[in-house]
Amino acid sequence: MIDPANQAKTDAPAAGLRGVTAGTSTVSDVNGERGELVYQGYNIHDLARHSTFEEVVFLLWHKRLPRKPEFDELRHALSRSSDLPNEVVNLMKQLPREADLIDVLRTTVSALELYDPTARDIARDASLRTAIKLTAQFPTIVAASERVRRGLEPIKPDPRLNVAGNFLYMLKGEKPSDRDARVFDVALILHADHELNASTFTARVVAGTLADMYGAVTAAIAALSGPLHGGANTNVMKMLLEIGELKNVEPYIKKALSEKRKIMGFGHAVYRTEDPRATHLRKFSQEMGELGGETKWYEMSRQVEAVMMQEKGLYPNVDFFSASTYYMMGIPLELYTPIFAVSRISGWTAHILEQYADNKLIRPRAEYRGGHNLPYVPIEQR
Ligand code: COA
Repeated sequence: MIDPANQAKTDAPAAGLRGVTAGTSTVSDVNGERGELVYQGYNIHDLARHSTFEEVVFLLWHKRLPRKPEFDELRHALSRSSDLPNEVVNLMKQLPREADLIDVLRTTVSALELYDPTARDIARDASLRTAIKLTAQFPTIVAASERVRRGLEPIKPDPRLNVAGNFLYMLKGEKPSDRDARVFDVALILHADHELNASTFTARVVAGTLADMYGAVTAAIAALSGPLHGGANTNVMKMLLEIGELKNVEPYIKKALSEKRKIMGFGHAVYRTEDPRATHLRKFSQEMGELGGETKWYEMSRQVEAVMMQEKGLYPNVDFFSASTYYMMGIPLELYTPIFAVSRISGWTAHILEQYADNKLIRPRAEYRGGHNLPYVPIEQR
């Protein structure tokens, strides 16, 4: 029973909080109409062309680009912090082999908190140290999770390599080519932050209770894992493999759309034009295909893009061309969503630092649409 006196107290809230400004931030800005993405004032295109992931991490945390000694210090700090406690590696070995690797990451990060005696200290200096540890340990965990799943021993990080190079090294056991390391580095830059996306908002809500950074990040990983968010990239590659051939693209997509199925890697809650990250990843997908002598996945992706534009007027998002790029780099599908987290940990931690620095518990209201004053009937009489 709906009490009319309590109905329509407010205008109906926007479904999914679409278009609602839920706070202030300097970390990043998305302009959906112009297709622009800015980190702390710097356009993503400039950062993708000229910067490195480590530099972007510094930028997100400190609101400015690092000077050379600061950059070197951060690189050293990340190298020093990239190992995992033995207890945590042992725990990873106990987890089911068939578990999703994004769930292994979530469980491992939650466990790491128990081995960090300073985890609960959320003062700026201590939080920054935690942010360094998490950003350094994410690639180690993700690479180790893949090796453990295949029954192999995890490979220790090489302190001489940057985050991108180290991840590929720990995954495959050999130093990556300069080209692969750079493409992966730029992919990390492109995924680093994206305003109040679902996982970042989750992280801020948890941090807003003054829970520790591990807890906020664990919750963010859970939010990222869903197919409408970071889970989309793995599904893009599964779809391309299922389609199989260029000639099958058009009938496959049209059939899926006629069945009202969503095509993963298309559409966006904010962009109404090309996602600026997709511009770079499209180029990488082509480049990796040409370098590897197999342009099929790129060509199929272009065809999916054309059919989606023609049928729905939808643009590809960050997850679409990252799938074929990673595939051509020989990265297993199961790792695509965890790789998103290897980059996004930088943005999550930047937002958590910002939240702690000027905290207010995040506690919105819901428009109640239930009843009032219903008579309580004892269970035997219902
Ligand atoms: N494939 C087919 N149709 C899509 C679509 C897709 N990927 N994305 C949106 N649409 C359609 C919806 O079916 C809906 O059509 P309708 O009005 O006829 O019902 C319309 O576009 C609006 O979609 P909706 O899901 O309500 O918009 P949103 O703002 O919530 O969508 C996403 C944002 C990202 C959730 C959505 O585009 C999506 O699910 N994409 C696929 C998953 C994905 O790639 N996620 C990664 C995001 S970076």
